[in-house]
Amino acid sequence: MKKIFALMIALMLALVNVAALAETTTLKAGTSPDFPPFESMDDNGNVIGFDADLAAAISELIGMEIVFEATNFDSIVTGVQTGLYDLGISGFYITEERLANVDFTIPYLQDSQSCIVKVDSDITDNASLAGKMIGSQSGTIGMDTAEASTDADKVFPYTKSLDAVLDLAGNKLDAVITDTPVANAILAELNDPSLTISPSVTFGVEYYGIALGKGNAELKAKLDGAIQTLIDNGTIEELVTKWDIYHTAGDAE
Ligand code: ARG
Repeated sequence: MKKIFALMIALMLALVNVAALAETTTLKAGTSPDFPPFESMDDNGNVIGFDADLAAAISELIGMEIVFEATNFDSIVTGVQTGLYDLGISGFYITEERLANVDFTIPYLQDSQSCIVKVDSDITDNASLAGKMIGSQSGTIGMDTAEASTDADKVFPYTKSLDAVLDLAGNKLDAVITDTPVANAILAELNDPSLTISPSVTFGVEYYGIALGKGNAELKAKLDGAIQTLIDNGTIEELVTKWDIYHTAGDAE
């Protein structure tokens, strides 16, 4: 009887351990895979891109598997806040406003936004965006930039940046604001000679980070350590080249 009891206890402990392990070895990451070269969906439904490779490299270093779950960009921060996702890996700029609701890792990359216009556009500098119809992806910093640049009723939110650019091509918008690597990728994909990135509309530098729930110091330390390692050992640099983040080829214009 004693033996059976001991066996039962052992079995229960083993089960508890397995459950704890399952809980800690997988991290669910919310992403919006409409944002090449950072994240897009391949034909098999896998998330690919800079962020996917970054997540795989981090997974290996911290011994926890990062699993992506696709959703709309504007629902990721709330998802991380409520614990629906452990992480938000979706080309997130680190901003004060977001830091009120989620934590961020150290930056893994920097760039700035770009303004896509028609080649014959009369938008020649930031000031001439005033009164123009500007499209951007819902929930992004591009939306904030659009709101700061034109009238409130001339800012148009889109679920995907690509759809905004298609409306620009169809003359339904005057400009689209998105991250520069994404602007380059979209223009390369559409290959529409009537579209270009305005060289004279410029925005400040932004830093990319991974969002995580507030106050999870242990997880943040792990992720920060992994990102620092990937910066130091040249992995980030390799991924920048692989995914043409800074678009050195110059073939989209
Ligand atoms: N970097 C911009 C931001 O933080 C846009 C990110 C959009 N990401 C995406 N996967 N659609 O707001």
